[in-house]
Amino acid sequence: MTARIELTDAAPHQTMTLEFPSDGVTLTGRVRVPGDKSISHRALMLGAIASGETRIQGLLLGEDPRSTAACFQAMGVTLSPLEDEWVRVQGVGLGNLQEPADVLNAGNSGTTLRLMLGILASHPDRYFAVTGDGSLRSRPMDRVIKPLTQMGAEIWGRQGNRLAPLAVRGQALQPIHYHSPVASAQIKSCILLAGLMTDGATTVTEPSLSRDHSERMLRAFGADIVVDADTCSATVRGPATLTGQTVVVPGDISSAAFWLVAGAITPGSDLVVENVGINPTRTGILDALRMMEADITLENPREVTGEPVADLRVRHSRLRAVSLSGDLIPRMIDEVPILAVAAIFAEGTTTIADAAELRVKECDRIAVMASQLASLGARIEELSDGLTIHGGTPLSGSIVDSYTDHRVAMSLAIAALRTKGPVQIQRAEAAAVSYPSFSATLARLCGLG
Ligand code: S3P
Repeated sequence: MTARIELTDAAPHQTMTLEFPSDGVTLTGRVRVPGDKSISHRALMLGAIASGETRIQGLLLGEDPRSTAACFQAMGVTLSPLEDEWVRVQGVGLGNLQEPADVLNAGNSGTTLRLMLGILASHPDRYFAVTGDGSLRSRPMDRVIKPLTQMGAEIWGRQGNRLAPLAVRGQALQPIHYHSPVASAQIKSCILLAGLMTDGATTVTEPSLSRDHSERMLRAFGADIVVDADTCSATVRGPATLTGQTVVVPGDISSAAFWLVAGAITPGSDLVVENVGINPTRTGILDALRMMEADITLENPREVTGEPVADLRVRHSRLRAVSLSGDLIPRMIDEVPILAVAAIFAEGTTTIADAAELRVKECDRIAVMASQLASLGARIEELSDGLTIHGGTPLSGSIVDSYTDHRVAMSLAIAALRTKGPVQIQRAEAAAVSYPSFSATLARLCGLG
């Protein structure tokens, strides 16, 4: 049997069928992953609200950043084509976004909606309506509406101000010190962005450190921002002045994670993933895979516009089960689905706890990963805040579903590399949210052209 990766289009959905020889598949070569999604959103947003031009190289051309770009274009921000090598954003200056003529649509992107809300709410006397796709309209927005309301924002949403579509009447906001109940970069960034236009110091304290791309980029754009890593706090002082900058976006470690696990679980594999962002608030997946005794080495470490970057080499090795919990989880929150796939091929029982946040991602990633991997034959149990995965059970082909979640679609495709018989992933088009060329890259790394 020869290997195959096929895409079948039945618009609006796509099915990905993957089948590999029973003696396995080996992944070799070099791969460059698309730009970091979190940094891409922030570069577009800060570029839009700064004064002067921002130039962005390496922007992720996925659906999520496209949603961000479209929202800010609708508010008077001029952008060069996103496909350009250097995307140019003509910033309108803080507080100068125009009232859009129509509803702003954040698509599938929680980062777009939540971060943008902090900016919109602080535009006095302007009215905005914001929505998203079916997944986003079911995700909790009260986590940002509540603190923004404490700052004086006026926001209305469905189900008791919890869900989008949302209506916003911009106001002059007051600074606050907000103690977030969850470690969430979206909450933290939303409030810091709202704080830019206040008169005074706005602080966000979180229970453990979430990704700090906003803090780094705000500083680069000229904001007065102080971070206290010991107390997991960030303070921005308003009114701020932001000046357009040059941003070079590193490759997304969340996308690299699929190749790291693919290389680790397939015998004979040896891959180099180039130009990956290794910001310490994002490298929980490297720590977890190393705890599992994966063979991963860092090559050519460097710094690119305020973010650490390296090439990551992964070679196949035997994996051991681990217990993951606590502060590590926010540092690998988007990589838990692919880590669950690695755990299937590890010796022993892996537990992942303190990850209840996964239930409010693009889908309920705990329930969906448990059910979809179980349908391939994995022994996996759902916990209220995580997963238990018993390694060493062989997988066999089945029909599975992405539940329209990009990371679920790609995690299932990587599981298929070690599955006997064909795996059919329904609604596989979801991958384009963060990795439009995923299936073509997978085919190339497997030697399929
Ligand atoms: C993101 C933060 C995380 C992450 C998401 C991107 C960001 O969400 O899951 O994919 O860019 O700030 P939370 O902040 O809700 O944990």
